[in-house]
Amino acid sequence: MNYKSLKFRLNLWYLFVFILAILIAEALVYIYLDRSLHRELDILLNDEAKKITQKLKFDGEVLSFVDSTEFYEAEHFYLNESSIFFRVFDKNLNVISESENLKKGKFVIPQPRASKLGEADEIEVNGKRLRIFYLPLYYNGEVCGVIETSKFEGTVQTAMGLLRTSLVIAFILTFVLVAYGGNLIVSRLISPLERIIEKADKITGENLTERIDIGAGNHPEEIVKLVNSLNRLLDRLERAFKQISQFTSDVAHELLTPLTVIKDEVEITLMKKRRSNEYISTLNLIQKQTERTISIIKSMLYLAKAESGVIRANSGMVNVSDLIGELISTFGLKAKQKNVKLRFYCNSDVFVYSDEKLLFEALRNIIDNAIEYTGSNGKVEIVCEKVNGKVKISVSDTGIGISEDDLPHIFDRFYRGRNAFEINPSGAGLGLSLTKSIVEILSGQIEVSSQLGKGTKFVIYLPEKL
Ligand SMILES: Nc1ncnc2c1ncn2[C@@H]1O[C@H](COP(=O)(O)OP(=O)(O)OP(=O)(O)O)[C@@H](O)[C@H]1O
Ligand SMILES: [Mg+2]
Repeated sequence: MNYKSLKFRLNLWYLFVFILAILIAEALVYIYLDRSLHRELDILLNDEAKKITQKLKFDGEVLSFVDSTEFYEAEHFYLNESSIFFRVFDKNLNVISESENLKKGKFVIPQPRASKLGEADEIEVNGKRLRIFYLPLYYNGEVCGVIETSKFEGTVQTAMGLLRTSLVIAFILTFVLVAYGGNLIVSRLISPLERIIEKADKITGENLTERIDIGAGNHPEEIVKLVNSLNRLLDRLERAFKQISQFTSDVAHELLTPLTVIKDEVEITLMKKRRSNEYISTLNLIQKQTERTISIIKSMLYLAKAESGVIRANSGMVNVSDLIGELISTFGLKAKQKNVKLRFYCNSDVFVYSDEKLLFEALRNIIDNAIEYTGSNGKVEIVCEKVNGKVKISVSDTGIGISEDDLPHIFDRFYRGRNAFEINPSGAGLGLSLTKSIVEILSGQIEVSSQLGKGTKFVIYLPEKL
């Protein structure tokens, strides 16, 4: 038996409460019956004493019997179980007369005490309880005598003895029933918990798809809630687990490409002695691939931080027009090289309560894409405006567009549109997932619409104020 188990404790408490309740109930029954039987006896003794009173006379000095029939009544004459004894005392509590059976009984009843007049008393005679009642007689407001009636409590004691035995038997029976029944009830309540523990113990990283199932049945609400809550926890764990393994394999895959290129290039270069311009070209390639690797690692670290909530917005009032102006000058050269027109329409009074650096990074990725994926003679237009208490920043281009199949995935990590490789072979597919994480940190929303071969439009909504 495990003394610390819930089952043991529940059983113990259940038994304790039940036993306490039974003991209290039995004690109440016992006390009530004991009092009732004694009251009955007292009434009988009182009636008998009153009967005797009627056979007495008091002449002011002496108390005497006018009728001696009482002495010959069976209950006062014979000595047996139903005998009622009596004694009559004068005002000085000297015995005037006593019943025949009392004389026969040869036992001594102590003198009545003044304090007990009008009440009942009890003494023990040869191991038997004798109930005594004292009825005082008054003359002109003063006690002129006392009638003492008494009877052995034989029947009362037998009844109480029987009751005691019945109560003990009832107690033992109830105890056995409660202990057995309680154990049965507790076991039924606990069994789903044991099944939950057993199931939960079996779930590991390898079988995270499994869920806890306690089977159909009328299970308590709390148990059902617990199972549902544990299963929801497993859902979340499974998702996180999948994300982590996806992340690991994505990173491994993405880093493998540039590193393999570097390795192959170095191996080929080292095969024979080469001219210095060949070495320079290899080194240039290594530099490019290393930069790409560094950029991937940086983005991944940033994403990991953003998703774990380490990055917090350091917000303040940001002039959107100034911020976009800065981005335009950053991308001026790239746009010129690609022969893409960069246009910008924004009032100078558009402010947003945001983190300037994060917002810069988010817009940088979108504008970079817009220029990157727009061919020569194309156009990229940036517009900012206030709409319903929000600031709307849209970046539209006349570039290659995104196919319907790619569109739902472009915010996923490492996802690249099928038509993107040709134009931008070195892209990692991380820019937009970074932007999305940032926009979420800034409590904004990002939307995209695109037409293949015609152009793409990204819209970011940000709260104007806190
Ligand atoms: N303005 C755009 N026009 C056309 N396609 C776009 C545009 N912006 C994004 N895309 C598509 O979405 C994909 C994901 O973009 P994202 O910026 O995340 O990655 P990337 O540009 O490929 O690489 P990098 O990590 O270097 O930014 C791109 O590969 C491209 O297919
Ligand atoms: Mg990009």
